[in-house]
Amino acid sequence: MSRITVAVAGSTGSIGTQALDVVATEPDRYRVSVLTAGSSWELVAEQAHMVKPDMVVIAEHASLDQLQQALPAGVRAVAGESALREAVAAADVTINGVVGFAGLPVTLACLQAGKRLGLANKESLIAAGPVVQRARSTAGAELVPVDSEHAALHQCLRANAVSRRVARLQLTASGGPFRGKAASELSEVTVEQALAHPTWAMGPKITIDSSTLMNKGLEVIEAVELFGHRAGVHGVGIDFDDVDVVVHPQSIVHSMATFTDGSTIAQLSNPDMRGPIGYALAYPDRLGSSFGLLDWSEPLHLDFEPPDRQSFPCLDLAYEAGRIGGTAPAWLSAANEVAVDAFLAGQIPWSGIHEVVSAVLTTHDGGTGETLVDVLNGDHLARVRAAETLAGRL
Ligand SMILES: NC(=O)c1ccc[n+]([C@@H]2O[C@H](COP(=O)([O-])OP(=O)(O)OC[C@H]3O[C@@H](n4cnc5c(N)ncnc54)[C@H](OP(=O)(O)O)[C@@H]3O)[C@@H](O)[C@H]2O)c1
Repeated sequence: MSRITVAVAGSTGSIGTQALDVVATEPDRYRVSVLTAGSSWELVAEQAHMVKPDMVVIAEHASLDQLQQALPAGVRAVAGESALREAVAAADVTINGVVGFAGLPVTLACLQAGKRLGLANKESLIAAGPVVQRARSTAGAELVPVDSEHAALHQCLRANAVSRRVARLQLTASGGPFRGKAASELSEVTVEQALAHPTWAMGPKITIDSSTLMNKGLEVIEAVELFGHRAGVHGVGIDFDDVDVVVHPQSIVHSMATFTDGSTIAQLSNPDMRGPIGYALAYPDRLGSSFGLLDWSEPLHLDFEPPDRQSFPCLDLAYEAGRIGGTAPAWLSAANEVAVDAFLAGQIPWSGIHEVVSAVLTTHDGGTGETLVDVLNGDHLARVRAAETLAGRL
């Protein structure tokens, strides 16, 4: 039997490198056919020597010649969006581990080609909801979430697939490095402190998003896009009022679904992203082996508490953008990308992230986000507004 070909988009990042680990565990079943990176041509070339893909795509045109020379014989280097779309469309499954809005072409190329998308890049779905929903309706297209909470919800809902009587979804959150801190204690936190996530080792953008709880807010929008009214036949009809955020510092329960009869189904496993990546690859089957099992011979303590919405106002900001709809989530996500970059560059304090995103969102122009052009314009305008807001602060 021929092997399933896998495109790993963003292969040089945290999700990408873990996706390569997962594929390597079942070499008779999967083969990496495409690797993509932003600018890290040396690292992606090293990966190509290990996995021997058909093609490597680099976003930065300037590195194309160096990349081609560094690749093993028979592996083609390409750059640019149309090459990227072709490469992704040719693979059976794509794991989208690109960070930020830059992941949108991968999401659309895969779904529009009628293929399976393992989606880690939440920003593309959040920013371009209606456009991605249409692409999701392409014959053969399938979206299986890789974000651990949504992979958990996918499994909880699947466990009850015969009845769609879902009352609420509970998204769990580790609480990040600043859980338990009062707003007054958070004004002076450093980049290093914000990057020290207690349970997950991830790329810098999502780690900062976890420290502000913006990540959880983005995940609330992601959950509504994946499982809500707008997802049509793919959804279970929930809306923003039906999604709870529950702080669970151990990151063992990855999320839960509560049904109309009061039963709650949860998915538990160690905090290791290779689990959800493997789930998205193998669904509806499962991988043949695990990346570590919970040890039930030892006492296991699981805590749950409500989020502190005063100290972490980005959470409610995301609910607000999600409820506004249209391009408001695209504006939220774009302004957040700009603000997180500014925080990482030492230009604004941690609390400035919320201030910038909130200021940009108040100027939202009511864009509907129904077309790709509308989404691209919305993303651009929000970045301009965020840059202006930053300039006013500096
Ligand atoms: N990490 C996790 O555990 C985790 C968990 C859940 C969800 N996610 C989601 O998964 C996505 C990736 O997160 P990550 O932590 O893996 O990020 P990361 O470690 O920063 O990796 C980002 C990847 O995207 C590539 N990239 C960056 N800018 C690009 C551009 N303009 N065009 C094309 N490729 C570009 C990078 O390539 P270069 O190396 O060349 O820059 C790298 O391969 C995010 O949406 C995140 O929210 C991550």
